[in-house]
Amino acid sequence: MAKVASDHQQRLDELHEKFAALGLVGYWQRQRRHHGVEPRLWRWDEVYPALIQAADVVRIGPEAFRRNIGLETESRTIIMGFQIVLPGEAAPAHRHTNTALRFVVKGGGAYTTSNGEPMTMQPGDLLIQPNWVWHDHVNDSREPIIWIDALDVGVVDFLGASRFREEWSEGIQQPLTRKEGASRRLYGPIREPEVHYEGAGVPYHYKWDETLEALNEVADAGGGDPYDGVLLEYKNPVTGGHTFLTMTCHIQMLLPGQATRPHRHTGTTHYHAVQGRGVTVVDRDEPIELEWDINDSFTLPPWRWHQFRNASETDPAILFSVTDRPMLEMTGLDREEKG
Ligand SMILES: [Fe+2]
Ligand SMILES: [Fe+2]
Repeated sequence: MAKVASDHQQRLDELHEKFAALGLVGYWQRQRRHHGVEPRLWRWDEVYPALIQAADVVRIGPEAFRRNIGLETESRTIIMGFQIVLPGEAAPAHRHTNTALRFVVKGGGAYTTSNGEPMTMQPGDLLIQPNWVWHDHVNDSREPIIWIDALDVGVVDFLGASRFREEWSEGIQQPLTRKEGASRRLYGPIREPEVHYEGAGVPYHYKWDETLEALNEVADAGGGDPYDGVLLEYKNPVTGGHTFLTMTCHIQMLLPGQATRPHRHTGTTHYHAVQGRGVTVVDRDEPIELEWDINDSFTLPPWRWHQFRNASETDPAILFSVTDRPMLEMTGLDREEKG
């Protein structure tokens, strides 16, 4: 019997060797791959000094095209990190097939130019630059500005579409050809019946004061969801769908003392605590508690039970998040289980 088994193994090994020489692979040889993302928290009181140190050591220009510092996850779809631009610095104009967003964490008054429109950035503002939108950043304020970046780098690389990229040919900055607020007028509720754009969408500037007002109004009206609290999506201004084709952004408010019910779903989500403090409990057996405070960030992997708790009995907590779930919907892979 042992002889038969070893003969069989030898024949299999020979077959696999032959496959390897021919550049073939039997599907039975493949390891089943699971998403390698693990729940993880990054504390602002550790991230912030690292950003300041990076701003001191790494120069925009010689060492780095951009001073981006990513959260190290195993996410194969979207990445999230921070970017810091010092007073007097400018990051050169370019466009690419990666879709990007910026959510302002600290500082104010610097601006990002998107397709010729200056967008002055204040804490809590969200700026979107879908694929193929020109963008550059200028900090002419007197303080460093820090924002969250998220990009669909993994997906674009995976699909072999990341080679398309252009640098602005004349100088670092693109000319300001539109007035501040132009995209909100051009692509807002009063607009031409048809909107024409290159790439996958239009740039847009979602302002924090309006976001907060919307959260408060929904909360005051008793709205909300048992699994996420008061959850609002940053809708694509043109289509009314998800923020982007590849990823979408949410802002959510947990009322004072609120604890949500557990659920799990496909998709990876990166979170950032905008206000307040709380706990996100991941998994039911051997639960992992991610205790977050203002400006901390954390990642939730696909299909893991999770629930949120606001640690304050008096103040709301607010989380910004970005997720790849639109791609799971597009591919028929979006699943959710409610606990
Ligand atoms: Fe870029
Ligand atoms: Fe969730």
